[in-house]
Amino acid sequence: MLGIIFTNLIEMVETTVSYEMADEILEEANLSSDGIFTSVGHYPLEDVVEIVTLLSQKTNIPPNDLIFEFGKYLFVKLIEGHKHIVRPDADLFDLLAELDSNIHVEVLKLYPNATLPTFTVLERQNEMIDMVYQSPRQLETLASGLIQGGAEYFKIEVDVDMKVIDTSPYKVQLTVKKK
Ligand code: HEM
Repeated sequence: MLGIIFTNLIEMVETTVSYEMADEILEEANLSSDGIFTSVGHYPLEDVVEIVTLLSQKTNIPPNDLIFEFGKYLFVKLIEGHKHIVRPDADLFDLLAELDSNIHVEVLKLYPNATLPTFTVLERQNEMIDMVYQSPRQLETLASGLIQGGAEYFKIEVDVDMKVIDTSPYKVQLTVKKK
């Protein structure tokens, strides 16, 4: 995973829990990089898992809840750091419909070593989108957090429904509806 994911994850711990907690986790975790991340570097997914597992043990919050909250936090960071990639008139549903054809394509130009999921649109209406998330990293909870973060960013409320539809390759149907 790109370092940008790690730097934001650690920043979330620092700002929403404490700097001490972030330091403690980085010291205790058995990380390939010794806890030093650059935003364009590339690090194993297991390092994210290790950080989230430790954070979960220390806060008593289930790992999936932490990943979901991280997705919400991450959306704002990603969008603010890459405003030029998103059409200024796009709403959340446009953005989701364009993830594969535009957003993540531009991301790959910026970070050629990024490992991105694919999102295939099954159905698109004004205030609803049905799509299939495919990734061997099985991070649909992160995706659903990113979508909720996007909804907050665009000041709307949405329901996100997730259904695993295949395990090899791993595919999850995500249905997003405005409330
Ligand atoms: C709601 C909208 C979005 C969703 C649902 C989404 C989904 C995801 C997911 C689930 C991943 C983790 C990798 C995987 O699952 O295989 C990911 C990675 C990433 N996304 Fe998106 N994304 C969204 C918007 C954006 C935006 C707006 C940007 C930046 C302009 C962005 C940039 C990235 C980057 C840099 C990574 C890391 C790739 C890596 O670790 O190598 N995403 N995205």
